[in-house]
Amino acid sequence: MGKRVRQFGGKRVLLHYGGGSVVKSGLLDRVKKSLTEENITYVELGGVVPNPRSGLVYEGIHLYREEIFNFVLAVGGGSVIDSAKAIAAGALYDGDFWDFYSGDAELTEALPVGTILTIPAAGSEGSLNSVITHEDGMLKRGAGGECLRPKFSILNPKLVFTLPAYQSACGAVDIMAHVLERYFTNTKNVGVTDHLCEAVLLTIKEEIPKVLANANDYDAQANIMWAGMVAHNNICGVGREQDWATHDLEHELSALYDVAHGAGLAVMFPAWMRYNVDHDVNRFANLAVRVWGCKMNENDPKTTAMEGIDCFVKFLSSIGMPVTFSELGAKKDDIPKLVKKLGVTSHKSIGSFVKLYAKEAEEIYRLAL
Ligand code: NZQ
Ligand code: ZN
Repeated sequence: MGKRVRQFGGKRVLLHYGGGSVVKSGLLDRVKKSLTEENITYVELGGVVPNPRSGLVYEGIHLYREEIFNFVLAVGGGSVIDSAKAIAAGALYDGDFWDFYSGDAELTEALPVGTILTIPAAGSEGSLNSVITHEDGMLKRGAGGECLRPKFSILNPKLVFTLPAYQSACGAVDIMAHVLERYFTNTKNVGVTDHLCEAVLLTIKEEIPKVLANANDYDAQANIMWAGMVAHNNICGVGREQDWATHDLEHELSALYDVAHGAGLAVMFPAWMRYNVDHDVNRFANLAVRVWGCKMNENDPKTTAMEGIDCFVKFLSSIGMPVTFSELGAKKDDIPKLVKKLGVTSHKSIGSFVKLYAKEAEEIYRLAL
């Protein structure tokens, strides 16, 4: 790891991590040793929470002004990596780093970031995105730019053996969701990426039960880790329009209730699917056949499509995921608030497969009840 940091020019590193799992497992000490062996100095900033907050990002940027590091190393999951990316971007920016997340500034430069991944889920280890929650208003927003893509990411399946089953399941759902956001497209004749998407979904379907039965199953963890990378480094999304409305709908849930992103997606994706199935019944029916093993009803593909969505929901329940608002701890009465925070109106929409305005967003939240 120290050699990799050096390869990408790191001389003084910000070592960024979460709430303690990497301290407990001894990983952080191993990382420090590896840096020291390469004569690389470091400053530490731990304490990233799931659904990472702006407060720690400001602290990291302040630390940069005092300590001047030239590389940010994230040791942890998507939350740590996203926080590291935000610090890397904010360090080189004179204004408020939040400008990148509110859409007020374009992200063109950042310090180099490297990652050691400890949970396969968010795909931030290969993506150009970062998602942060601003404590002022609890707004969860994303920023993106090629400069945020990690210079390297170490994916060692042994590092995820300590994950609680619930976190593994949440991660699996997030990986599936990253593929589904790309799968539901209006772009025609994209067979290669359609089938790549289906392969990743099938892999999660086959491997996650093995991991839940035995977290030390190296091969299953390795497959899931690699699935998480290819699900979100955009190899499955090349040349196709992508949707991302379900992620927008979910981010409001994790911002308001501080639930795991994957758990929120397990509630929102089936609702989004049910709402939009008529837009392209054959695409939904193909997914049902190729991933969930349903038999195609040639006379009435919609029944196959709906059967596929039911199989997805059963699968989600079988791996311990919530599938309704109440299972998630979300409240019906908050729906208007969720829609408002989402920022959709009667003329401002999210998504592209089907454009969702305020009315549609509200109906999908209601379908998730
Ligand atoms: O904080 P520690 O103590 O490390 O504990 C974490 C945390 O509590 C724990 N954990 C991680 N690795 C572990 C471990 N526990 C035991 N053993 C290990 N090996 O797991 C918990 C969850 O970690 P977190 O980083 O929050 O999970 P995840 O990777 O799912 O990240 C979720 C965040 O990523 C964002 C989500 O919105 C959410 O904020 N996303 C980022 C994306 C991106 N940058 O491209 C895309 C995604 O769609 C997503 O929105
Ligand atoms: Zn996600």
